[in-house]
Amino acid sequence: MGVKELGYVIVQTAKMADWDHFMTEVVGVMRGEGAPGGGAFYRVDDRPFRFWIKPGEGEHFEAAGYQVADEVAWNVLKEAIAAAGRPVEDGTAEEAKVRGVTAFFRTSDPDGNGLEFFHGDTRDDVAFVSPVGVSGFVTGDMGMGHAVFGAPSFDATHAFYRDVVGFHDTDIPRFNMSGEPNDPGMGFAFMHADNGRHHSIALGEMPVPPSGCVHLMLEMKTITDVGKCHDRMRANKVPESATIGRHVNDQTFGFYMQTPGGFDIEIGCDPLVIDPATWKATAHLVPSEWGHVWAWQKAMEEN
Ligand SMILES: [Fe+2]
Repeated sequence: MGVKELGYVIVQTAKMADWDHFMTEVVGVMRGEGAPGGGAFYRVDDRPFRFWIKPGEGEHFEAAGYQVADEVAWNVLKEAIAAAGRPVEDGTAEEAKVRGVTAFFRTSDPDGNGLEFFHGDTRDDVAFVSPVGVSGFVTGDMGMGHAVFGAPSFDATHAFYRDVVGFHDTDIPRFNMSGEPNDPGMGFAFMHADNGRHHSIALGEMPVPPSGCVHLMLEMKTITDVGKCHDRMRANKVPESATIGRHVNDQTFGFYMQTPGGFDIEIGCDPLVIDPATWKATAHLVPSEWGHVWAWQKAMEEN
C-alpha cells in the first residue's frame, strides 16, 4: 500500500486568460490538448496534462491527484478513507478518461483540502517544448512535484496522511518564523510518497487559505531555468512571494511567486533525493539555509 506520486492538479478560476499567460509565459509550460468545458490543460512532460485549469466562479484549488500502485491498493485506500469518516465519491468512467487514468475517487483530508486518488496513468509521444525555452521539468518516478496545504487540525490531518493514506514522514519540524525566542513555532509535516522526492505533500499548522492551497512546487532541470523563470516573474510583474533561497530540509534552490489563484508556486531545482526505504524522519528548526525572504517579512522590514 501507499502512494506512488503526485500526478496532476485541478484548479478552478474566473481568470482563465490570466492563468494561461502565467502558465505559458511565466512558468513556461506547454498548452495541452483536449480539456473539456472551456478549460485548459498544461503539460510539463509526457503526461497529457499536469495542470487542469477549469473555468469557475472564483479562485479555488479543487484537488491534488495522487496515483496509487494498482487497483488493489486503490480499493484498499478507498475503504480506509471511508472508514476514517471522510466522504468518498467515485469518478465516472468519462471523468476518468478526461484525466487519463483508469479510475479515481474524490475525497478530502480532515481540514477539507481537496484530493483525488487514481490508479492507471497515461503517457504519450508529444514532446515537451516550452514556449519560453525552459529546458525541462523533473518528474518521472518522482511525480510532478509537491502540494502544500493548510492544516488547522494539524495532528488529525497529519495522522490522516500518515496512518490512513500511507504517506511517510520525511521532516516534522516546528519553524520559528518570527525569530522571537518565545515563539512556539509553527508545526509542519513534510511527507514522502513511495519515491525519492523529499516530499510529495506537506502540511502547515495554519488556516486553510481562501484559495484552498498554500503552494505547489515544480522542479526545473537546471539553475539557469530557475533563474530565467525568476526574470520572467519580474518582467511580467508577478508578485514574488519569497526571494531566491535554499531550503534546509529538501535542499531545493528556488523561489516562490503568486499564481492567479492566490496560492503560491515554488520553482526550484537541485533537491535532495531520498531513499524512501531507509529514510529516518528529521526535525529541522528553520525552513531555509539562506534567502527565501517572504513578502510579509519584507513588508515588516520596510515599515
Ligand atoms: Fe515547497
